[in-house]
Amino acid sequence: MAASGLTVSVVGTGYLGTAHAAGMAQLGHDVVAMDVDAEKIASLSACELPFFEPGLGALLRKGVESGRLRFTTSYDDLAGADAHFVCVGTPQAPGSCAADLRWVEAAFTELADRLSGPSVIVGKSTVPAGTARRMADIVARRTDQVEVAWNPEFLREGHAIEDTLRPDRLVFGVETPRAEKVLREVYRTVIEEGCPVVVAGYATAELVKVSANAFLAMKISFINAIAQVCEATGAAVLPLAEALGYDDRIGPRFLGPGLGFGGGCLPKDVRALYACASELGLEDVAAFLRQVDVINLGRRDRILSLGRELLGGSYAGARVCALGAAFKPNTDDVRDSPALAVAAGARREGARVVVHDPVAVDSARRARPDLEYADSILTAARGADVVLLLTDWTEFEDLDPSVLTPVVRHRNIVDARNLLLPTRWRASGWNYRS
Ligand code: UGA
Repeated sequence: MAASGLTVSVVGTGYLGTAHAAGMAQLGHDVVAMDVDAEKIASLSACELPFFEPGLGALLRKGVESGRLRFTTSYDDLAGADAHFVCVGTPQAPGSCAADLRWVEAAFTELADRLSGPSVIVGKSTVPAGTARRMADIVARRTDQVEVAWNPEFLREGHAIEDTLRPDRLVFGVETPRAEKVLREVYRTVIEEGCPVVVAGYATAELVKVSANAFLAMKISFINAIAQVCEATGAAVLPLAEALGYDDRIGPRFLGPGLGFGGGCLPKDVRALYACASELGLEDVAAFLRQVDVINLGRRDRILSLGRELLGGSYAGARVCALGAAFKPNTDDVRDSPALAVAAGARREGARVVVHDPVAVDSARRARPDLEYADSILTAARGADVVLLLTDWTEFEDLDPSVLTPVVRHRNIVDARNLLLPTRWRASGWNYRS
């Protein structure tokens, strides 16, 4: 990638901020990334990622060793950059469906208090419509040199580098030609490689992001709703989804029936959007989106009940092997993880649950210390009365019934991600449900 020589700052070095900072350095910019968490900054400066993301460690090291990427805990070190990207978290507010914006506000205020020369503060965090306007007002009260833009990110965990360097589209929420020009310069190489750019106002840019996530969530809940109709009518949802997917207008992705969606984004964004619709008095819209969440959460109960049926009606005293803790494969993220919710549900109903995940055991243990953890599939499965396959890791796809048969107590398996070949398991004497 050619150097294009801007100076860029990144505020917030969580998952998004770290990927963005390393990506910006790879695009040839001079990057300083800031976080108030000194421990995080120390480990990033030493090129150690505090979370799991394929390939990002190497990109981080490349940036640091090239001298184009450095880390700091002080806002004072960010003054002078041409563009400041705000990548702080917007978690679901405690006791509410709305997003908690306190870190976004703090970042804009702290930056505006320190910037004197012309520059642009670019929000990347996922926020409700109206936030960019409020941030622009906060900034305008402090300086007339600094503009505000919104540039939502669409990166998926497990694909952070690809999505940062080769995004499907760029969305610029801007109010002035200068802000657009700076963003076009920041992403010059990406745009030259053919990435489409959509230029719009603040509210549109903010809404594109939550609408994209809500649409993906809706697609998953749609196929899961149809899965229930299939179960009730004796139809098979997998060939049905395949047939739907061949229609170009529908497409095959995010049409995988199973345990449903989780993670730090889809669930919170759907909830934030229905909270926003409800606040706006759009009750029909709120009810429509709320149902996406309801259907999704219902999947967890359904999978639990399949396990209960295999156990003869109760989890009490049973030994459960839970395969998977992460909310999806290729991440150690267990936020709102359907897998962990099901494991915890079985535990609550009196089972002894042993969880195995290829990378998420440590993060799962921190989130759910009441469950037991094993570092291999076989250890987790020893003496199990039922195996619940909860995350679609490729490691689990290759599971061989003849390897599990000698270690379990009863040959019962619930394949919550439709990952295995039912005929193969049934032929080996397993009670297989999906
Ligand atoms: C999601 C979006 O895909 C990104 O575009 C967006 O930038 C990101 O949120 C964000 O807001 O930051 P991510 O949370 O990493 O990315 O996860 P996805 O790959 O979208 O998967 C979400 C969930 O849907 C997972 O639990 C996955 O298992 C589930 N899923 C996915 C299904 O249940 N069925 C499918 O067919 C596909």
